[in-house]
Amino acid sequence: MTVTIVGSQLGDEGKGALVDLWGGNADIVVRYQGGDNAGHTVVEGGEEYKLSLVPSGAVRGKVGILGNGCVVNPRTLFDELDTLRERGLDPDVRVARRAHVIMPYHRVLDGIEEEAKSDDDLEAGTTGRGIGPTYEDKVGRRGIRVGDLLDPDVLRDRLEYVVPQKRAIVEDVFGLEAGEEFDIDALHEEFAAVGRRLAEENMTVNAGDFLGNELDDGSNLLFEGAQGTSIDIDHGIYPYVTSSNPTAGGASTGTGVGPTVVGQGEVVGIVKAYLSRVGTGPLPTELDGADEDLADYIREKGGEFGTVTGRPRRIGWLDVPMLRHAARVSGFTGIAVNHLDVLAGLDEVKVGDAYELDGERLETMPATTERWAECEPILKSFDPWPEVDWAAVADDGYDALPDGAQTYLDYVSDEVGAPIYAVGVGPDRAETIELADPFERTA
Ligand code: IMP
Repeated sequence: MTVTIVGSQLGDEGKGALVDLWGGNADIVVRYQGGDNAGHTVVEGGEEYKLSLVPSGAVRGKVGILGNGCVVNPRTLFDELDTLRERGLDPDVRVARRAHVIMPYHRVLDGIEEEAKSDDDLEAGTTGRGIGPTYEDKVGRRGIRVGDLLDPDVLRDRLEYVVPQKRAIVEDVFGLEAGEEFDIDALHEEFAAVGRRLAEENMTVNAGDFLGNELDDGSNLLFEGAQGTSIDIDHGIYPYVTSSNPTAGGASTGTGVGPTVVGQGEVVGIVKAYLSRVGTGPLPTELDGADEDLADYIREKGGEFGTVTGRPRRIGWLDVPMLRHAARVSGFTGIAVNHLDVLAGLDEVKVGDAYELDGERLETMPATTERWAECEPILKSFDPWPEVDWAAVADDGYDALPDGAQTYLDYVSDEVGAPIYAVGVGPDRAETIELADPFERTA
């Protein structure tokens, strides 16, 4: 059986805490999209681990798979694995042979293109990890896959085709100098060695086949989505998006496990009790202007600074049309609401209940980002809830939550049409109220 964890907003909803909570019942934790643009902090045995590519379950002794929908930077992969091993862990991570490889030139091109786009305010504020250029090459059928690294001749053929094109883009289109990241021999030497290490450590798999066999044997799979629905390449606020599908459909295409199998399982949307955003683009419920002090307060209290880049995140009220959109796209069977404690003690709590666009009320997001930017949020106010001893509340359960907080949660659950499986009331793993374990529900 499978449980798929999906970000409902703009990423950084605190998915890691739920992957931790429910990963205990999983045999295998699988990432299905993205690459080292996804930062997560895992606390285990009092130790803190910062990861951006390795699935967090690998810290807890689970098999971690990077599915074919991922883009893999081998430098990051080996750095993270080496660091975990130096700290005494023995992570078991396998990489799909069909996954694409982030090459050094992809990172360079990511930076060049963002810079070029900034003149027209079109830059996405990427993490600079080369994610977009790698997916471009995948779709353009000129990418390099993990499986290609295992055969030095195939690798050379691929490099000889693609690298001169990349060099020409840098030099002829952008008028810049192409550095060592565009040197075929140097790339071949480094990446053939990557292939040898992957083979020696038996780290590559035919992921769909492997996962299918595991399912046949009764294993539980946890699909760990990175980023969030509103930065999905298809369903997000294009062009201010990442280049993959964080939504639940990605769990199928990005792993080789059929949609009917994923759909028989649980799909849990992770919601942050307010909005945060690291990138550029519009944000109708943003707390800006006169509300900047409130945004600063929430940012500090919620620790809203990018895990990968350290950038301060923009802050807004919960955007409910965004959640309705997310619930439909992924078919949520349940939700988890995080960071509820961060909103405690405010004078008033608001949400964007709907939008007003051209004098009409809209319950969900328009399809273009330009129209989204024209949406005025129709705000709804909630009675505030006080600061309480959140650790005690986490111990005592849902009924111990302040009344105002319960009203807020009931509203969110009704609007997305899915029950609440968990509520996060603090950063520690134990500060999560669990109402249901999705693996128990599918059992
Ligand atoms: P990229 O994924 O680095 O190409 O960045 C594209 C957009 O996605 C930018 O707006 C990033 O800030 C955003 N993004 C990428 N990864 C994350 C994440 O893990 N959390 C939140 N935003 C992200």
